[in-house]
Amino acid sequence: MNWDDTTDTSDGERLVGASADGEDQAVEAALRPKDLGEFIGQEKVREQLDLVLRAARARGATADHVLLSGAPGLGKTTLSMIIAAEMEAPIRITSGPAIQHAGDLAAILSSLQEGEVLFLDEIHRMSRPAEEMLYMAMEDFRVDVIIGKGPGATAIPLELPPFTLVGATTRAGLLPPPLRDRFGFTAHMEFYEPAELERVVHRSASLLDVEIEPDGAAEIAGRSRGTPRIANRLLRRVRDYAQVKADGLITKDIAAAALAVYEVDARGLDRLDRGVLEALLKLFGGGPVGLSTLAVAVGEERETVEEVAEPFLVREGLLARTPRGRVATPAAWAHLGLTPPRSQAAGNGQGNLFGA
Ligand SMILES: Nc1ncnc2c1ncn2[C@@H]1O[C@H](COP(=O)(O)OP(=O)(O)OP(=O)(O)O)[C@@H](O)[C@H]1O
Ligand SMILES: [Mg+2]
Repeated sequence: MNWDDTTDTSDGERLVGASADGEDQAVEAALRPKDLGEFIGQEKVREQLDLVLRAARARGATADHVLLSGAPGLGKTTLSMIIAAEMEAPIRITSGPAIQHAGDLAAILSSLQEGEVLFLDEIHRMSRPAEEMLYMAMEDFRVDVIIGKGPGATAIPLELPPFTLVGATTRAGLLPPPLRDRFGFTAHMEFYEPAELERVVHRSASLLDVEIEPDGAAEIAGRSRGTPRIANRLLRRVRDYAQVKADGLITKDIAAAALAVYEVDARGLDRLDRGVLEALLKLFGGGPVGLSTLAVAVGEERETVEEVAEPFLVREGLLARTPRGRVATPAAWAHLGLTPPRSQAAGNGQGNLFGA
């Protein structure tokens, strides 16, 4: 397995950020469910994928290409490995950004074994020429290798063994339709229910040999933003706390105290999320305020606010993106224990100095 090619969009220190870095990746690998039976939640996807794989196995054929889309940390990489395991096929792992030239892709494709699973992470970030080569490879199991340059260049067709492409993307909307249409099966992964995350926490705790009470697992699950990767990460931080400050057993109180230390609040908001909300409420009266202004106010890059903090705040119904700027919802005021000004409560943020 080759991890060098995978691009890490890690945001370092953030405990609830959904991407993984160094140590995390190692632990994550250890916590990954190995087959569909171990994979928790995503009932629809699991049932459909099970049918696709069983049928292919029964026909003695290579499984159809699979596209997995969904937010970071929901289990796309895990599922791709499960697909390979269920097909008893080897897997090759690479990512869109690692394939800059069509030649890079040709080299990978031409070295695939029959039935092999090619996992292409962040498939929306592949270069255009590579993407066009992939169309042909997916459909006809053939690529044209270009030899030479300029007018003298010739295309040599190269037959490929049948393989299964598993593409993963956090942004299905960015995939060009011709690429999307070439996948025989598309699975959209949803955020997990708290009860499912509790099962994830219990499973991981037992793999890590950590003792946890049901209430403790529920406490962690509730702050995990519907994301198994975050649940696993919070579990490990709570374990540290339980080990140092108590006898190692994770109870509800221990979990809550630990997560307070790490500044993850009851809804799973961390320091950055709260900073954004606080600025929006306290400095701008709940908005509307432009993204750039808001970012300056919290001392962060525009992109960090937009891509790291906002998606969760929007999903939680705490913040709305409107054409005039960012606006706090009544739930945001309630969550921070603040009272909205009269104009906000009446639902009009007009006359605000800081409008977008
Ligand atoms: N359904 C699940 N059941 C149990 N654990 C899960 C499940 N899905 C994901 N996990 C855990 O969450 C971690 C992250 O999953 P994974 O790496 O597959 O996410 P991803 O969707 O590929 O994220 P990214 O978009 O950042 O690459 C894994 O280590 C795994 O342990
Ligand atoms: Mg992944």
